[in-house]
Amino acid sequence: MNSEMRMTLTQFLIEERRRYPHAGGDFNSLLLNVALVCKRIARKVAAGELGGATGSASNVNVQGEDQKKLDVISNDLFIEGNNWGGYLAGMASEEMEDPYQIPECYPQGRYLLVFDPLDGSSNIDVNVSVGSIFSVLRAPASDRPVTVDDFLQPGTEQVAGGYAIYGPTTMLMLTVGNGVHGFTLCPQVGEFMLTHSNLQIPPDTHEFAINASNSRFWEAPVTRYVDECMAGKTGPRGKDFNMRWIASMVAEAHRILMRGGVFMYPRDSKDPAKAGRLRLLYEANPVGFLIEQAGGRASTGRQPVMNVKPSSLHQRIGLIFGSKNEVERIERYHNEPQQHDEPNPLFTERSLFRQSV
Ligand code: F6P
Repeated sequence: MNSEMRMTLTQFLIEERRRYPHAGGDFNSLLLNVALVCKRIARKVAAGELGGATGSASNVNVQGEDQKKLDVISNDLFIEGNNWGGYLAGMASEEMEDPYQIPECYPQGRYLLVFDPLDGSSNIDVNVSVGSIFSVLRAPASDRPVTVDDFLQPGTEQVAGGYAIYGPTTMLMLTVGNGVHGFTLCPQVGEFMLTHSNLQIPPDTHEFAINASNSRFWEAPVTRYVDECMAGKTGPRGKDFNMRWIASMVAEAHRILMRGGVFMYPRDSKDPAKAGRLRLLYEANPVGFLIEQAGGRASTGRQPVMNVKPSSLHQRIGLIFGSKNEVERIERYHNEPQQHDEPNPLFTERSLFRQSV
């Protein structure tokens, strides 16, 4: 089908809204403005060195990470593209320590927008796919300044979740709780066109993604799972697995939505102050929402990630998602009685990634 015949994101959202006769247009305005912001970011990312925006911003963000110039630009685009619309009560971002208050000159609305403006940004300078991740929540109130507590809602409360991936093509993947739909940016028309309806993740896979350089910090159930995959045909799984690691979660989530697989950035003992690497509110929850809406599963290893009640705006969490049967297997391994629940070098289990002791 050529792009003229396809449904645009605007048409898709209008048709979705018709299913809810009492809905105003705020929700659609919000999603369309997020999509517009993503188009702007896509242009900046695609310009690369020619756009003069690659490299470090010489600043460290609230996460203690080196901010890239494009992190800062993308964050500003999200803020400026959404603060005026009258549909938001506030915003929160990976790049800002505190929630963003809607300026008094604009009306305050009923939704909260939470986002990671440029996920995987360490990949920008090496021209590997990056993306923007967003989650939409209902604001508990819209007649007072927004508070941190307003954002601390479990992922099950999300009314929309999605990401844009800036790869060989720019795509927007979206769920409003009625399946996952993928839209490809048509460079000629400048519109997101519906190209992937109702995506379904195959329940089984032979592909897993994990940063194996952290293996000495893993907990026993993760070590067991990875070892069994690595053992291949002759091991307990009886089949060979492939391993992938892009170090850009959006790109990994996209691969998994397209063809299945399992992604793990589990809780580990690398830094006792952090319960994991990825952020609950603007990474784990929206990706978890997409994955579950596509028939997959998203978990901390111990419970569905979207059931976790957040305790802080920038909370980190262990995250495992992808093909349902694999994620359930990993959860089973976590729930079985462990010989040594916490990793301890004195009790290192035999592992393909470890020297036996
Ligand atoms: O939060 C960010 C992120 O860049 C993810 O997109 C990615 O999966 C992960 O961190 C990469 O981590 P590491 O540098 O440990 O491979």
